[in-house]
Amino acid sequence: MLTLGIESTCDETGCAIVRNGKDILSNVVTSQIDLHDQFGGVVPELACRRHVDVMLPVIDEAVKQANINLEDIDLIAVAHGPGLIGALLIGLHAAKGLSLALQKPLIGVNHVEAHLYAALMSHAEPIRFPALGVVLSGGHTALVQMHAPDQFTLLSQTVDDAIGEAFDKVAKILDLPYPGGPEIEKLAELGKPHLPLKSGTVKGRPLDFSFSGLKTAVLYAVKGQNNSAIRQSLSQTAKSDIAASFQQAAFHDVIKKTLQASAQIECRDIIFGGGVTNSQTLRNMFREASPDLTLHWPSFGMSLDNAAMIAGLGHHRYRNEQFDACLHLEAATRLPFSQ
Ligand code: KG4
Ligand code: ZN
Repeated sequence: MLTLGIESTCDETGCAIVRNGKDILSNVVTSQIDLHDQFGGVVPELACRRHVDVMLPVIDEAVKQANINLEDIDLIAVAHGPGLIGALLIGLHAAKGLSLALQKPLIGVNHVEAHLYAALMSHAEPIRFPALGVVLSGGHTALVQMHAPDQFTLLSQTVDDAIGEAFDKVAKILDLPYPGGPEIEKLAELGKPHLPLKSGTVKGRPLDFSFSGLKTAVLYAVKGQNNSAIRQSLSQTAKSDIAASFQQAAFHDVIKKTLQASAQIECRDIIFGGGVTNSQTLRNMFREASPDLTLHWPSFGMSLDNAAMIAGLGHHRYRNEQFDACLHLEAATRLPFSQ
């Protein structure tokens, strides 16, 4: 069964062709980093327009790279949320157009759930459910109990910034390019994490996340260097020490709460998803902190936004549900986890 997946929830336009939910024949992603870099974050209007410009060429390229014809497709899967409304609509309408023209079923996929599915597509070994899902992306930070690949109970989430968002904002404070995560990881390698920074805690909800206080603490650390807001005057060593301290504080917090949650729901398999799981530093820190747990990471290219994970989860759901959303499918800026 061939599934064509479409991703356009934020600032990446993606199309992928996946056979039987696992075998990735093509996975084309165009990033809009050039467009948003000067603003230090995604500008929704610009993102929409770029999606319009590149959606059809990206679909053509994915079909070409997979060496198939459009008519060979059996199912169309599209990320219909959560995300930016304008961006979602471009992918959704492209998917509906294809579904109508090819007379093939259409299924909507939750982008955040697909991030977790990316790790399942990356591994051959079976996973013992219930497992703990750890979502660490630019828009979401959550711990979920996974009863099956497509069945979840939300355990905790962030009460303010998502972790990737915090990396991007701290990068901006340090005058680093967007997206900030990889830049902070690189800079942190040169620094020492000696600043006493800590992620936030939420009263009465020990598994919830809070990163906005940590981000503000970085802002004060930067300003405090010269008792002024002139960031350019920070030495390179001071900058790398701040990056290292921030990264360590954010990751320590994620590790602590993940271990706590896995003990609480008594599961040994941890499934990771989202752009921040691209960090080798995070993977190393987790490996050291949790030798008794089995960690399932997305493979190379599957951490960041992509359409192969959308096609993969779409295939899985369609096989179980045989549900054709047809033209009724709507874009959803917020979309809860499926239960
Ligand atoms: O999952 P994703 O591609 O998009 C969303 O669905 O949000 O995640 C993008 C986020 C960005 O905030 C980016 O800074 C972060 O992932 N990121 C990283 C690293 N690589 C990407 N954060 C920390 N360390 C990294 N190496
Ligand atoms: Zn994402």
